[in-house]
Amino acid sequence: MEVVILGGSRQIGKLAADAIEDLLRRKPNAVLGLATGSSPLPVYDQLAERCGQGLDFSQASGFALDEYVGLPAGHPESYREVIRREFTSRVNIAPDNVHGPDGSAGDIPATCQAYEEAISAAGGVDLQLLGVGTDGHLAFNEPGSSFASRTRIKSLIEQTRRDNARFFNSLAEVPHHVLTQGLGTIMEARHVILLATGAQKAQAVRDFVEGPVSAICPASLLQFHPHATVLVDEAAASALKLADFYRHTYDNKPAWQGL
Ligand code: GLP
Repeated sequence: MEVVILGGSRQIGKLAADAIEDLLRRKPNAVLGLATGSSPLPVYDQLAERCGQGLDFSQASGFALDEYVGLPAGHPESYREVIRREFTSRVNIAPDNVHGPDGSAGDIPATCQAYEEAISAAGGVDLQLLGVGTDGHLAFNEPGSSFASRTRIKSLIEQTRRDNARFFNSLAEVPHHVLTQGLGTIMEARHVILLATGAQKAQAVRDFVEGPVSAICPASLLQFHPHATVLVDEAAASALKLADFYRHTYDNKPAWQGL
């Protein structure tokens, strides 16, 4: 796991966008793993700007991590809509190439299975953006999620509902159920870039980067990922024991290595 401590979300957005730009130049039909929440927004801003300057998404495809169950189609806070609004409508990716789990499907197990198959048929995710919940969740894999899990329905912990209530008019409007790629699904992405900013993430970052690998902190599974990059600001890094070592390592990293 590589930990990079940066000055703020703008620098984080630029570095993550650099990795996506490198990938698209090497592999124009790359498969991008798309995250919601506020953490990836600076990355999407950067990518929209770079698309305006010629970065080409026309052959790329995207898969969302997760979705609420029970929000009506087109609800502004459904993740399908958030991803369209914040990212895919701002770049030249083909709308048909952007996928998300269908939270309004009648047959939930079948739609989850079909989603797994669609990811495989696209060749798997090349680069997965991730945030982390204050409870250490990844996508909507709450504490206790199986490390082998695949796309499925989950119940949200109250802390997550409260954290996400800021996007809704009231806590009561936040759904209790979600569909989410499993931890096993996420671990198959070839490169994962997790973004975390702000003091409210400091404990979760400390737990998943330096704590034991444990289902109580789902993001800690990334310690087993062969290519995981963690981009944090100073506040989110403030509880890390080895912060100076991560800084030193990144400052002295050979430029050819990239992320
Ligand atoms: C939600 C999403 C996660 C995201 C998390 C953190 O629960 N399902 O994918 O990582 O929020 O969001 P934020 O980046 O807004 O802190």
